[in-house]
Amino acid sequence: MSKKLKAASNKGGKKYAPANGRGAVIVVSNLKGGSGKSTIAFNLAVWLAAKGGEPLLVDIDPQKTLSDLVSVRDEIGAEPGVASPSERLNIVAEGRWTLVDCGAAEVARTSAVVPQADIILVPVLPSQADIWATQRFLEILRPQRKADARVALFVNRADPPDKSRETRETLAALKVMAGMCEGAVVLPTMLGRRIAFCRSLSEGLGVFELKAKAKASEEFHAFAKAVMALR
Ligand SMILES: Nc1ncnc2c1ncn2[C@@H]1O[C@H](COP(=O)(O)OP(=O)(O)OP(=O)(O)O)[C@@H](O)[C@H]1O
Ligand SMILES: [Mg+2]
Repeated sequence: MSKKLKAASNKGGKKYAPANGRGAVIVVSNLKGGSGKSTIAFNLAVWLAAKGGEPLLVDIDPQKTLSDLVSVRDEIGAEPGVASPSERLNIVAEGRWTLVDCGAAEVARTSAVVPQADIILVPVLPSQADIWATQRFLEILRPQRKADARVALFVNRADPPDKSRETRETLAALKVMAGMCEGAVVLPTMLGRRIAFCRSLSEGLGVFELKAKAKASEEFHAFAKAVMALR
């Protein structure tokens, strides 16, 4: 284990180990490209690492955005370090959180990891095209996922609901979809359209590391806690 990873593991992260003891797999996926899958997977990985959770990462997208992000983080020597993603479709969770970043068009590979998922995290941009794609994605998931898997839908890159009809309509559509899909929930938190998420990708840092007191940081903490509470 590298020094940086050791530093991460020394922070008493037991609290952020999955409660079941065997580990839990979060698959971040949607059929729609550009919905924020890699951004969310990376930020959750850094968030868990900061809590001493030592997450495992799997990158099954040939674009390798998550792997590139981890390399940037490693190059700048940011602490805590995050372990490089593997590409393995057969996941061994080792009692930890495992985050899987899927490619939008990679239906076959996604289908290989979905049956192993405890949580399927589905970012949805506020647009009708994304609502339709999400509906189709939920249909694809239905026969593949474990009976007790949770499906967590959330609006990403949202403008404030009081100012954006798209955000309101997308949130309403997600609630209807969740109501019709066993084990599905709409997360109580949205992630706003914020420049900090773009900087996060450019710099290999979590949004909450860029500016601790910024709105993006507050939102991400609430979001990550809501995800952890699913298990
Ligand atoms: N909440 C947000 N606010 C602003 N920009 C965001 C937000 N979430 C993601 N982005 C930006 O949207 C773009 C797409 O994000 P990302 O690459 O994570 O999507 P993706 O779903 O992984 O894409 P792909 O389907 O190509 O793998 C990136 O430039 C990212 O910085
Ligand atoms: Mg991606």
